Amino acid sequence: MNVTIVDHPLVQHKLTQLRRKETPSDVFRRYLREIAMLLAYEALRDQPIERVEIETPLTRMKAPQLAGKRVCFVSILRAGNGLLDGMLEILPSARVGHIGLYRDPRTLAAVEYYCKLPEDIAEREAIVLDPMLATGHSAAAAVTRTKELGAKSVRYVCLLAAPEGVKEMNDAHPDVPIITAAVDSHLNDHGYIVPGLGDAGDRLYGTK
Ligand code: URA
Repeated sequence: MNVTIVDHPLVQHKLTQLRRKETPSDVFRRYLREIAMLLAYEALRDQPIERVEIETPLTRMKAPQLAGKRVCFVSILRAGNGLLDGMLEILPSARVGHIGLYRDPRTLAAVEYYCKLPEDIAEREAIVLDPMLATGHSAAAAVTRTKELGAKSVRYVCLLAAPEGVKEMNDAHPDVPIITAAVDSHLNDHGYIVPGLGDAGDRLYGTK
């Protein structure tokens, strides 16, 4: 399976606070932002660097900095925005795209209602964001759209995944690495991840 589980204790600790049903929205948002920064560290691990000549207060040296390869975060609305904030704190120069998808409650199929990506997406590493990889339908649809609009290199970052979603993504997009904090047990009949954390969008924004 093309999936990396970030098992760092800080990530796992924050994930547990996110799972607790009593965690209020403001705390949920803060933990998700923090965990996104830690997931960004893993998602951006292989970004190319170049050596540039700089001067420290003591001497000149050749020091590493991020090379030209540019990143675009693609947030799947609306819960993807909960991961986006932390990612942008780590990499403020990244461009941002948005894809609006909702789940048809009957079929659980992904229905697109909005899509806006930067014109130069083909020259960027696309990192698609959604906290919950459940059935995988929205994830696969968002990645398909991102590729249709030109992206050649795509990865997918989520907070929690279900085995069903990982399989759907691996089948549809075997070239797309998945980075997550955990793969949970299963999906329930309503397409929710178990044990999971409930509806990520509702928990982020205090809706029902
Ligand atoms: N979306 C969510 O927000 N939570 C789930 O458990 C599954 C999909």
